[in-house]
Parts: sequence; structure tokens; C-alpha cells
Amino acid sequence: MSLDSAIILAAGEGTRMKSRRPKTLFTLGGRTFLNRVISAVGAANPKILSVVVRYGKDQVEAEALRAFPKAVIVEQDEIPGTGRAVQCAMSRLAGDIAAIDPRGDGSVLIAAGDMPLLDASTLSSLMDAHERSGAVATVLTTVLDSPFGYGRVVRGADGSVEKIVEERDATDAQRAIREVNTSVYVFQTSVLAQAIANLDSQNDQNEFYLTDAIEFAGNYGRVGAFAAPDPLAVEGVNDRVQLTRLAKAHNRRVCERWMREGVSILDPDTTWIDDDVRLARDVELLPNTFLRGRTVVGEGTVIGPDVELVDMKVGQDARIHRALMQNSVVGPRAEVGPFSYMRPGCVLGGGAKQGTCVEMKKSTIGDGTKVPHLSYIGDTTIGDHTNIGGGTITANYDGKHKNPTKIGSDVHIGVDNMLVAPVEVADGVTTGAGAVIRHYVHRGSLAYSENTQHEVRYWTPKSQRPASSRDNNEKDNKGGAR
Ligand code: UD1
Ligand code: CA
Repeated sequence: MSLDSAIILAAGEGTRMKSRRPKTLFTLGGRTFLNRVISAVGAANPKILSVVVRYGKDQVEAEALRAFPKAVIVEQDEIPGTGRAVQCAMSRLAGDIAAIDPRGDGSVLIAAGDMPLLDASTLSSLMDAHERSGAVATVLTTVLDSPFGYGRVVRGADGSVEKIVEERDATDAQRAIREVNTSVYVFQTSVLAQAIANLDSQNDQNEFYLTDAIEFAGNYGRVGAFAAPDPLAVEGVNDRVQLTRLAKAHNRRVCERWMREGVSILDPDTTWIDDDVRLARDVELLPNTFLRGRTVVGEGTVIGPDVELVDMKVGQDARIHRALMQNSVVGPRAEVGPFSYMRPGCVLGGGAKQGTCVEMKKSTIGDGTKVPHLSYIGDTTIGDHTNIGGGTITANYDGKHKNPTKIGSDVHIGVDNMLVAPVEVADGVTTGAGAVIRHYVHRGSLAYSENTQHEVRYWTPKSQRPASSRDNNEKDNKGGAR
């Protein structure tokens, strides 16, 4: 079938979401509704893919172009309704369509932008059904147990579609129909152009309904319907309750797919996996784990409980326990957590450790190197097999610039050190407890900083001294350090 053009409707505000964000920019499985619909529609290879925008125009346009750089952006005018959106698109696209299909024999696919689980295979079945039947238009429908809120599909005696009636305009008998309009259609191009020409707003919402074009299309030939086998794939999201329900159902499927691929998931109810995440076999996910964005996890790695990974690359047989980690790389057999925060731009080497309550940012940690307790490591490069004592801080910010710290291999940084950047510590160095390192430390040296211990013997706190002896007492106690 020659699919000339596709029109994605994304101009509506999505009033029922009660948000400043346009509805099609809400996300499910880590991608916006609009991105998801555009990829499903784009897979059908339309020669022209257009997106109708109005509410939150700039944001919606930017998101559309991110997903599909060649998308034609059409602005809907102030007249509301799905029918008006298509009128605006068709008048904007008329010239482009005429150039590829002067007689209008090809097809137009229309899809609402608020159907996050719309998929390429549902669309290709719809287009097959349309082509096989020779219909002038085919509506993608689905059959629901509770069809409340949707447009009902009214079929004639011969099974063809007579019209679509919106819930609020329907009679009691029509409301009893369980087959509903999903807001996805294929039209013969020339028929669509004529069917939308005479839309009006004689309905309960005073909007131009695209659904009315179905009845008009009946004047040019048969209008068919194709019922989507999977109701989730065609559900349009109208409010946040529906979004949560749909996201949950989708996530359950994603978890089950990964379990069948060899991933153990102890509790799919509290494990959330974005669509673009990739997991190897024998990965084990413990409760409250969120794998987001383009996170990739290697074989045998155990993650959780209480972990959020965003755009992370994790090697095999690693162990991550109670951590938030963003846009970084973790080597094989590395250990992270509990209570660790890895900010973007880190590389943790093979068998390395980011231990308890450690924050890292833009740092490279060599193989076998350990940062086990209570540290901040920022803008730092550390070699292999180095140990960083508990409580060590890299002072990377001088109030104006972020400065680098470099620590070599086989270094032993004592506990509670402060490395004042920019600074470098060469290979094989040992530093004393509590050292403040401000200058280059040469290979193999011991570096420590003066930190004199004083002691005042037989000392009584001022508040406990008799008033008369206060002066004496102070004198007696002077110079007690021995
Ligand atoms: C629409 C259908 C209904 C169907 C339901 C499926 C109409 C009149 N009704 O109703 O039969 O059962 O979808 O979910 O078409 N939009 C625009 N411009 C506008 C208005 C809407 O581009 O002026 C876009 C929205 O951004 C959205 C889509 O069209 O992506 C659907 O709009 P929505 O208001 O959700 O339609 P429904 O009332 O759900
Ligand atoms: Ca809708």
C-alpha cells in the first residue's frame, strides 16, 4: 500500500490532565507519548509525516522534531476539535501531497498523539485490512467492557461503519455499543479531503469532530473497521489515573518479557524498566529498582533494593545496592553502595568500589580501586589498586572554578584527607590520617600534614569551678600539653 502521508494530532491541551505540560509530552516507559506515537507511525514509512500543534506549541514542536527531524509541523488555528486539526493539516499538506499523488489515490493515516502504546504492528494490520477490503476509510476500533467516554462505532447491517457517535452525543442504545473509536484511521486521500470539507460544530462540545468525517466518507464508498487485538495498544490517555493504570500494565509486560529472557525480578510491582533499557541474562533485580533511559546491564549483575539507574552502563557481575547513579560507566565486578550517589561522567573500573555514603562526579576510578566510606570525589582521576581512606574529600571548587585532582596507582590515602585541587599525588604514595594535601606529592613518598595534639591535664570546665578560685584555676591549668 502506498502511504502518502500521516497526520498526528497533538494540538489539544489535555484539559483532564490538569497540567501546564501539554498532554502528549507526558511520559510512559521513559519516552513521551508523542515520541512513542511518532515512532509507531514513522515505522509505516509515510512519505510525509506531519504533527498538528497548538497548545504548548514550542515544546510540542521541539519534541516532534527530536523524534522525527523531517516532520512537517502544522499549526492549528483557534477553532477547536480533532476535525479542525485535520482540516488544518490537509490544507497545509495539499501541495506536498499533490506533488507525490496528484489524483489522491494513496492513503492518509491519522493518529491521536495521546496513545502511548500504539505500536507499528497494530498500524500495519490496520493498513493491511484497509487495503484488502478496498474501503475508502478504515477506523481502528477496539472492544471494551466499559466503553465509557469513547466514541461508539455504529455499524450498518452489512457490517460497514455508518458513523461514530461521541459519548455525550449518544442515545442510550448507542451507549450500549462496546466497540469504540481509537482515534486512528486510514483514509483514501481524495476521500478525506472531501469528507472534512463540510464539518460543523453542531455537537455537545461545539467542536469540529473528525469522527463526523466517517459518516461523510460513506458517501464515497464503504467505510470499514479493524478491531485492534490488544486494547492496551490503542488506549488514549485522558487523565492521570488512566496514565498510571496504563503505565503499570505496560511495565508488568516489560518485566515479564525480561523474566522470559533470563532476568530475575523479585517484585515486578516495584521494579520499573524503561523501554530502551537492555539487560543481559542472569541479571537480578531486587525490589524498588528503577532502570531508566538507555541503561544497559551486563550478565550476572545484582541490582537493588532501592536503586535508580539513569542512562547507566553497568558491566557483568557487578553489585549495586541502594544507590542513585546517572550517565556513567561501571566496570565488571564493581561494587556500589549502600547509599551511594554517582553523578554524570564517572567511570568505575573493574572490581572497583564506591562504598557507603560516597558521592562521585565526573571522576575516573581505576581497576580494583576502593573508595569505601563517606567520601566526595569530584573531577578526579584515580589509578588502579588505590585505597581512599574514609571521610576523604576532594575540594574541587575554589568558589569560581572546578579544579581537577589526580591520584596515582597503589596509593594509600589516609582517613579524613582533604585534597585541595588542582593537586596531584603520584603512584605509590601514602598519606597520613587527616592530611590536607595542597601540593604535588612525589612517587613513593609519605605525605602528612602537621596536626599537633594538645592536652590539658586535670582540667575542670569553667562552669564547674568555684567562683572564688576561677582565676587561679585558669592559671594552674595553663600549658598542660606534655
Ligand atoms: C477522541 C474521539 C473519540 C475517540 C477518542 C479515543 C473525536 C471527536 N473523538 O475523543 O471518538 O473514542 O478520541 O481516545 O475525535 N486534538 C487536536 N486538536 C484539537 C483537539 C484534539 O490536535 O482541537 C488532539 C489531541 O491533542 C489528542 C487527540 O487529538 O492527541 C485526541 O483528542 P482528545 O481531546 O483526547 O479526544 P477525545 O475526547 O478522547
Ligand atoms: Ca483522548
